[in-house]
Amino acid sequence: MKRTLVAPFAMALLCGLSTPASEAQEAKSVLPKYASFAESKHAFDKSVAPLFAKHCNGCHNAKISEGELDLSMLNPDMKESTSAGRWALLSKMISQREMPPEEKQSLAEADVKTIADWISAEMKRSGKHFATREAYANGNKVNHDKLFDPKFEANFDSPTTLRRLSPEIYAAEMAKAPGVGQPFTPEGKTTFRDMGAPKLDEPTTALLIRNAIQLAHNQTNFKIENGKMKAIGNLPQEFAKLLDENLPLEDAAIIAAVQKQFASVLQRQATKEELSRFTALFHKNAKDAGRVLGVRYSLAAIYLLPESIYRWELGSGPVDDQGRIRLTPREIAFAISYALTDRRPEAWLLVDADKGKLATKEGVAEAVRKMLDDPKLKKPRIMRFFQEYFGYDKCREVFQDVKVHKSHDPRILVEDTDRLVEYILEKDQNVFYELLTTNKSFVAYKTAADLKKKRAIETAKFEENKKKDPEKFKNKKLQLPGRSIYEAYNLPDFPDTQPIDLPAEERAGILTQPSWLAANSKTDENHAIFRGKWVRERLLGGVVPDVPITVDAQLPNAPHHTLRERMKVTEQEYCWKCHIYMNPVGLTFESYDFLGRYRKTEPVLDTEATAKNVNKKGKSLGPIFKDLPADAGGKINESGDPAIEGAVKNSVQMVRKIAKSGRAEQVFVRHAFRYWLCRNESLGDGPSMQQAHQVYRASGGSMKALIAALLSSDSFLYRAPSPETPKAD
Ligand code: HEC
Ligand code: HEC
Repeated sequence: MKRTLVAPFAMALLCGLSTPASEAQEAKSVLPKYASFAESKHAFDKSVAPLFAKHCNGCHNAKISEGELDLSMLNPDMKESTSAGRWALLSKMISQREMPPEEKQSLAEADVKTIADWISAEMKRSGKHFATREAYANGNKVNHDKLFDPKFEANFDSPTTLRRLSPEIYAAEMAKAPGVGQPFTPEGKTTFRDMGAPKLDEPTTALLIRNAIQLAHNQTNFKIENGKMKAIGNLPQEFAKLLDENLPLEDAAIIAAVQKQFASVLQRQATKEELSRFTALFHKNAKDAGRVLGVRYSLAAIYLLPESIYRWELGSGPVDDQGRIRLTPREIAFAISYALTDRRPEAWLLVDADKGKLATKEGVAEAVRKMLDDPKLKKPRIMRFFQEYFGYDKCREVFQDVKVHKSHDPRILVEDTDRLVEYILEKDQNVFYELLTTNKSFVAYKTAADLKKKRAIETAKFEENKKKDPEKFKNKKLQLPGRSIYEAYNLPDFPDTQPIDLPAEERAGILTQPSWLAANSKTDENHAIFRGKWVRERLLGGVVPDVPITVDAQLPNAPHHTLRERMKVTEQEYCWKCHIYMNPVGLTFESYDFLGRYRKTEPVLDTEATAKNVNKKGKSLGPIFKDLPADAGGKINESGDPAIEGAVKNSVQMVRKIAKSGRAEQVFVRHAFRYWLCRNESLGDGPSMQQAHQVYRASGGSMKALIAALLSSDSFLYRAPSPETPKAD
């Protein structure tokens, strides 16, 4: 009986999930409505096509198709084609004044609106939505110079998008209960993990429903003893009253239970409308499924409200004089909590929100600073930014299945870099510069002392055994615990004080930490292309097109050549148009090996010596390697900053140069923006971005100041009206 009931009932609940946002927009709509494609096409031919003919077709026709776009091939029937994504891009580009490219040809405001409105209306008719794809694809595609040009004006377009809770928030708030599993798996493809659009696929939905029912069950657990109800666990009074079939099901009791559940799940009171909706639901479910099940499902329904599954940052506040919609103080309280912690807002923040303290930009910045300065408040999302930005924690994946060294433990390398980031954040000065240039390092900072002790014991044991039986131990060597860890930093032993200063000509910042170097390696050799791609995208803000599927992306199997020599194949004209962005910066890391050890030479197979290395019967006795000089020369190219362009000796020199570049600093701000706003920037975010960068500069490179600026920026606090929302008078 239980089974048959769950699905349709729960489905009925879930149907409500996607409505609130679209309903809100529906109400304000003033767009034309097209009942058929014929109607839509008529409007297109009459008002849109002539604008294209006048302003665009010169560059986007069958012969000259700039950006590989021939406008005559772009199907206006979005229902019958896959063109909606392209139309969305087009709409965005004209609204942002990116097209037409030259300012003097620029479209009149009214013409932009004509085109954009037609696109929105046709999307609506065809049931397609503005492709979210755009918002999560490579963020660097947005023109950097325009983004940071204070004179460049683009429309504010911070989008209203629904995002599900991060797996961590769900875990902290819900999944800690017995029998409740994690429904959300992180997205794989975006720069930052939490950037993806909500994907409520079937398995996720099924698990959400199961969890909700389990949670409600946990809250209402009881048994009957001597004809009396006895609570198991923490059964709130308000729920117990409803479960007792001897009592009538009264509205007042239901209301008390609903308020209790709202307070616990959503941290707010239910509205009048919600109370009447849920009162009706309790009655209906009790009638259909019996009292106990009915009450449980009704309580479960509150766990399934969109507000408990999504991040509620739609912008439900007032519209300002520019037509932008502000988040409500409550939405802001949640948004800044989710930005820094994995938890819902602390009580004081909700009180501040109620008192109107989050009504101004300064008020929000102050609340953020208070959170940042509170040593008791855990803020795991800050460290996660650096882990995801640098990606050094990926070295665990690289060495997941292989033991390179007996004592190689990539987890320790990651912990050490984490600690280094923390150390720099504690000082909170010139954070970006320090991250890239410091020659300080932690080396097994958690375990070094233990490992040393362990080694002393083992050494003593070894010496004792040797004394007893010198013959047996003559050729034996002691295995030193953790040796490959300190060797990764080219140290002879664990340092006694942490952090230690490594030679400044050998190490400069996170990119020369063994964790980062290993994360961008293969299990047995360097990967200059991955290392270069990282520098290009994350430091220089460049774009490298994806490898075409037609390319067999493999280097020749020639172990007698250095990596640099083997990478020559990528210098053919066809390959170079992409590899020019990766190789010259990536090869500068050739002064380290795949474990991150600094080196002056690179071992390659010595074919001659190997051929001679045979036993009397001519059987090979194994390969012999020879050392060639490790050439870490490279070039900063195509960087957009003339001051740093040019040849460099190695990565230390390269990174030191980049760390001083104001443009690279802006690229860092762009990444922080993406992480904390969980979406890619667009030109409309220019002012928010510029201000955040200025604040960072003025504060002497304080990460706290940067975060506070981002979380109180217009892009964070406001949403653009959807195209159909009328502006306030
Ligand atoms: C002077 C030539 C020129 C004119 C006029 C022009 N474009 Fe473009 N367009 C380009 C170039 C060059 C690109 C590719 C480079 C880029 O993306 O900046 C491009 C790219 C685009 C793209 C992106 C294509 C894609 O899928 O990546 C769109 C959309 C677009 N144009 C729309 C328009 C529209 C709409 C107009 C008229 C309002 C217009 N363009 C007018 C030159 C032009
Ligand atoms: C359109 C851009 C583009 C072109 C053209 C291109 N590549 Fe690449 N290539 C990339 C990118 C991007 C990567 C990084 C791969 C990744 O991120 O997974 C890459 C990676 C590689 C790798 C390393 C693959 C691995 O996973 O270890 C090799 C080898 C390679 N390319 C060889 C070539 C060769 C040879 C050619 C020419 C025949 C070529 N590529 C043409 C973009 C390109």
